[in-house]
Amino acid sequence: MAIFIDSGNIKEIEKFLRMGILRGVTTNPTILLKDGIKGGLDEVRTQAVEIARLIYPCPLSIEVTTNQKNKMMAQAREFVRWADNIVVKVTIHGPDGELENLEVIHALEEKYDVRVNVTAMMSAQQCFLAAMAGATYVSLFCGRVNNMGYNCIEEIRKTRKLIDEYNLKAKIIAASTREILNVVEWLTAGAHIVTIVPKFLDGMIIHPYTKETVKQFLADAAKAEELTVEDLASRAQKLELSRV
Ligand code: E4P
Repeated sequence: MAIFIDSGNIKEIEKFLRMGILRGVTTNPTILLKDGIKGGLDEVRTQAVEIARLIYPCPLSIEVTTNQKNKMMAQAREFVRWADNIVVKVTIHGPDGELENLEVIHALEEKYDVRVNVTAMMSAQQCFLAAMAGATYVSLFCGRVNNMGYNCIEEIRKTRKLIDEYNLKAKIIAASTREILNVVEWLTAGAHIVTIVPKFLDGMIIHPYTKETVKQFLADAAKAEELTVEDLASRAQKLELSRV
């Protein structure tokens, strides 16, 4: 799995898809707003259907836009009708710590066969409970954890240990990337997946010393092409002599 892209932008998704380095897409209401999706659920649906088709069979996470229990259930069940590869994002609890969310998550996974990505989590203990409730993905907001002054690496390690030890199906998505180095750092700490913003993917690929090296190769290849037929003949002759 390894790399998901944290974006609702079709052009960005297509670009990295063509390179063969994407295994999924995550979005949230903030990302979709930033990417210009402003027409309510109708526009979310149009965009989601397009992305889901593009990346099929890789998963696309779409987040519910309400925290009312019945409405979350209804939205989640509607989202998965849009495409087979849609995963529904539900936050671990509501804006004031409302606890119904875990009931919703459990019912969606176990009763309605909906894949859930439990999101906005800041600790291993939250991830563990979401995984116990049956979540397919647990999203740990590593960048935000670090921003609060805690070390997300410890939370990733603890989450992975618990998931493995209790044989839970959940996969850890390390989210909220803040720097290029987060990707390898978080994957090697035990995350199954890092969801990364597009600009950091560019940054992971490009290296100044690689640029310099490629320039040297191309310049030397051009020089080699400038050799005359006589140069090549004399080289061949020298080679022949050296073998005798
Ligand atoms: C993950 O699924 C979220 O969409 C995302 O990574 C949140 O990142 P942020 O903390 O930059 O908002």
